[in-house]
Amino acid sequence: MSEHPPPPGRLAGKVALVTGAASGIGRAVAELFVREGARVALADLADELVRGVAGSLPEAQACALALDVTSEPAWEAAVTAVLARWGRLDILINNAGISFGQPLTETSLADWRRVMAVNLDGVFLGLKHGGAALRRGGGGSIVNVASASGIKPAPGAAAYCASKAGVRMLSRTAALEFASAGIRVNSVSPSGVTTPLWESMPFFAEMAAKLGGTAAVWAELSKDVPLRRFADAGEIAQGILYLASDESRFVTAADLALDGGYTA
Ligand SMILES: NC(=O)c1ccc[n+]([C@@H]2O[C@H](COP(=O)([O-])OP(=O)(O)OC[C@H]3O[C@@H](n4cnc5c(N)ncnc54)[C@H](O)[C@@H]3O)[C@@H](O)[C@H]2O)c1
Repeated sequence: MSEHPPPPGRLAGKVALVTGAASGIGRAVAELFVREGARVALADLADELVRGVAGSLPEAQACALALDVTSEPAWEAAVTAVLARWGRLDILINNAGISFGQPLTETSLADWRRVMAVNLDGVFLGLKHGGAALRRGGGGSIVNVASASGIKPAPGAAAYCASKAGVRMLSRTAALEFASAGIRVNSVSPSGVTTPLWESMPFFAEMAAKLGGTAAVWAELSKDVPLRRFADAGEIAQGILYLASDESRFVTAADLALDGGYTA
């Protein structure tokens, strides 16, 4: 047996809160962070699902939190719960989000507001309450999950595109506001990622039926991506890990395009 303990992970000793951790990118982030030595609070609206994901991870390193990111009291309770359990918060990943595709003239105000509430209010509330906890601990890293759709417009997805463009500007503004507190704020902008987010959209099932399966839909949808494919959630998690870790200690107010060249 080696005399040396295994090398500490890239997030050893850190405490992280990941929103939307029951599925897709958030789940991949939480699992990767645990592998890299962090203690991770997995937060999601889908509380049963997120308990299942957290339960599949080592108990000392993972806990589940029921959190609707649109609710300010829920954010206060979530941050309080993390501090009560682990005494600190070093990393916040504002990942929870919903997709929405509908022509502008057919979009109800209620739908528009729902997209803004989850995708943009949710990030604002995370910055507000998570940011305050990070500041009390002397600093840390916040990563907000935006989208290539916040850079390149997608017809039929105006609410989603506008919300994600908002996330990018909110991130840069927060970065400048929080810099003196030792808190870095960055965003990532993925293009298509093979997660349940897509499969929940009605057009996806229609396309799958027409083209003969989901693989054919991914192939069709990635025609404009120079690398000619969608990303895997784990590939997006790797970019988020870099921004969350101290390896990016001089990086703030940046947006990392994780898009196979889509927005070049
Ligand atoms: N999948 C893609 O192609 C893609 C591309 C670019 C950006 N994104 C962004 O990545 C993020 C994660 O998306 P995904 O593809 O993993 O989707 P997903 O649907 O697989 O997971 C999203 C998770 O967020 C949770 N969630 C939804 N509303 C919530 C709320 N109000 N409070 C708390 N949790 C809530 C859901 O329960 C779900 O577990 C989103 O912000 C999305 O916009 C996704």
